[in-house]
Amino acid sequence: MEPHCRRKLFLIALPLLVSLLLSVSARIPCEFPAIFNFGDSNSDTGGLSAAFGQAGPPHGESYFHGPAGRYCDGRLVIDFIAERLGLPYLSAFLDALGSNFTHGANFATAGSTIRPQNTTLHQSGLSPISLNVQFYEFNDFHRRSQIIRKKGGVFGGLMPKAEDFAKALYTFDIGQNDLTAGYFLNMTTDQVKAYVPDLLDQFKTYIKHIHDQGGRSFWIHNTGPVGCLPYVMDRLLVTAAQVDEAGCAAPFNEVAKYFNWKLKEAVYQLRKELPKAALTYVDVYSIKYDLIRHAKKYGFEHPLRACCGHGGKYNYNARLGCGSKIMVKGKEVMIGKSCKDPSVMINWDGGHYTQAANKWIFDKIVDGSYSDPHIPLKLACHRH
Ligand SMILES: *[C@@H]1O[C@H](CO)[C@@H](O)[C@H](O)[C@H]1NC(C)=O
Ligand SMILES: *[C@@H]1O[C@H](CO)[C@@H](O)[C@H](O)[C@H]1NC(C)=O
Ligand SMILES: *[C@@H]1O[C@H](CO)[C@@H](O)[C@H](O)[C@H]1NC(C)=O
Repeated sequence: MEPHCRRKLFLIALPLLVSLLLSVSARIPCEFPAIFNFGDSNSDTGGLSAAFGQAGPPHGESYFHGPAGRYCDGRLVIDFIAERLGLPYLSAFLDALGSNFTHGANFATAGSTIRPQNTTLHQSGLSPISLNVQFYEFNDFHRRSQIIRKKGGVFGGLMPKAEDFAKALYTFDIGQNDLTAGYFLNMTTDQVKAYVPDLLDQFKTYIKHIHDQGGRSFWIHNTGPVGCLPYVMDRLLVTAAQVDEAGCAAPFNEVAKYFNWKLKEAVYQLRKELPKAALTYVDVYSIKYDLIRHAKKYGFEHPLRACCGHGGKYNYNARLGCGSKIMVKGKEVMIGKSCKDPSVMINWDGGHYTQAANKWIFDKIVDGSYSDPHIPLKLACHRH
């Protein structure tokens, strides 16, 4: 072949080769050396427990054989994510005891919201560790972990490497409590919907702040069907006309879907504004709703009943929650007991999912079929 011909062929082949290489590299599994998680009880691995007292027995009974800072009988979706990425379970940033942050940190606390609340935990059950505070903590962690790491020794060995902040997976599961917060203040559905854009503006702000600090891979869960949770259905009056085919309270799920629609829009905007970031939107709502609606088909029972609790239509009583005790003839008796078989139940304590449900949910999200774009967890560092 003539040299110039060869060059021509090369010039034709080059774009092909580049696009081929790009599509191949997009299939190379990401090496996430760490996870930094932000959220509420759906992904709290010990934050609220560390600051405000342990979620006591029977929490943790199915896997950790004792309380483990989780509002669950065992592992959460974030635990299954860590397992699948070959990383240890995340220590809570707030947990001063035995924490190891070599492979990430968890800033989530149960009851957290995106927007800072004007109530105390005692008044409303909402955590003061809202998303802005979680970001302040992350910011502090990012800076100081490196000072401590440089000093070496025991404490230095518990910190992540500087370069891991750019390579890490940043996970989010937050928003549910912002929606219930309005309802619990007796707001109407329209009033709750009216502040959803503000929630997402604040959410976007913190994603951008993390991006400014080098974060590139974002894995964002949408919010679940909050109208299917016993603690919501028990507290807010639900009329028969509002109950849907799954037995859930339709208006609250409508608001969740509205939030999710706006969240997806926010993720699309972020993709435009942050061309170097890979943002994956994960539709956990559809997975959870499908699980609850077709519980029997999937081998679960009583989708709207809490496993751990006491009394009422949903085995849920706000005053006698999971793990609560009463005095009977001078003796302490646990009345908020666990059910016989948590592995066939979906709801753990009225507000949270069981380990069995979390595993089921994880198995659906891991391959990317419920994600936008449709990329599996292990490829979530690639921008599409
Ligand atoms: C912290 O975690 C890392 C990674 O899992 C491990 O190698 C190290 O031994 C742990 N440090 C302590 C003190 O347990
Ligand atoms: C808390 O109060 C401030 C000041 O009045 C207000 O701007 C903010 O929206 C309030 N937050 C919530 C969640 O209602
Ligand atoms: C909401 O309404 C209920 C029932 O009318 C009332 O008991 C409660 O105090 C109200 N809550 C707030 C925060 O206004």
